[in-house]
Amino acid sequence: EPEVIRDKEAMRRWSRSMRSQGKTIGLVPTMGFLHDGHLSLVRQSLTLSDVTVVSIYVNPGQFSPTEDLSTYPSDFSGDLAKLTAVSSSGSVIVVFNPKNLYDYDGVRNEKTNSGGGGGGGKVVSCVEEGGLGHETWVRVERLEKGLCGKSRPVFFRGVATIVTKLFNIVEPDVAMFGKKDYQQWRLIKRMVRDLDFGIEIVGSDIAREKDGLAMSSRNVHLSAEDRQRALSISRSLAMAKAYAEQGKIGCKELKDMIISEIVGAAGRIDYVEIVDQETLEGVEEIKSGVVICVAAWFGTVRLIDNIEINVT
Ligand code: PAJ
Repeated sequence: EPEVIRDKEAMRRWSRSMRSQGKTIGLVPTMGFLHDGHLSLVRQSLTLSDVTVVSIYVNPGQFSPTEDLSTYPSDFSGDLAKLTAVSSSGSVIVVFNPKNLYDYDGVRNEKTNSGGGGGGGKVVSCVEEGGLGHETWVRVERLEKGLCGKSRPVFFRGVATIVTKLFNIVEPDVAMFGKKDYQQWRLIKRMVRDLDFGIEIVGSDIAREKDGLAMSSRNVHLSAEDRQRALSISRSLAMAKAYAEQGKIGCKELKDMIISEIVGAAGRIDYVEIVDQETLEGVEEIKSGVVICVAAWFGTVRLIDNIEINVT
């Protein structure tokens, strides 16, 4: 099993000792309940760097009080078993599993990030009364606004801030992000560029179930029926890509097609947008370098997915 480090000072010491041995460090930030999407990031990190740190930390700073922090799934021992299976002989994976990265005084924010058991204390998200005892937030002003930022106004400042903290603690050479969370990936790339982190950010392709559903820790909360209906997202995105790459179709028609597929499957649309892959600004016509992004609710579960369009 991989070594588990829970203390941030110990984490930094470990990284610095690796660095002093001339080893490069890859970081895969996660919130745990690992699936093959996470594991593909870990595999990629193992090929790109000498040692890999997988952080498992459910970040209260990126959930608003109405969101699913308290029901976010976890299975720490299962995660360790999956990571053991991924690591071949000679590859080094350590797990960074801090209890609480905002906890300065030892009493606040007892969301159980503890591995395995451990009692659940009070769950505090970032905008609740008392907050996180945290004052400094990283904001990526333009990229945080659109797409998921509209319905999740505190999400990206929470992500940018926790990723900054993880970068400062782990001091990696390269960090892996999934394109499943397309806006998150772009925002982190932009943050690293704007703030001169000197870390290479690698975007990894979306891992899907055999039937097309984008893998997500939240998929476990889908009922069997909604799980089936949710396929309308990946199905309509694949159709849209095929149409778009054949040309002769406008953005409006494409969006309408996706919306009617999803609504027809009893999904509730949060957004369907066609945006530039880098700026994430809406485009008026289909061209190379755009991405179609979707967020929709099935039952109580909010799912996101996207597909890049490359017209030749
Ligand atoms: P989490 O949802 O656990 O995802 C961790 C990483 O796995 C992210 O980079 C995400 O994009 C990637 N990932 C998730 N599902 C994927 C899939 N089906 N295919 C490819 N990659 C996938 O994203 C977060 O955690 C958090 O916001 C975090 C970055 C850890 C900050 O708290």
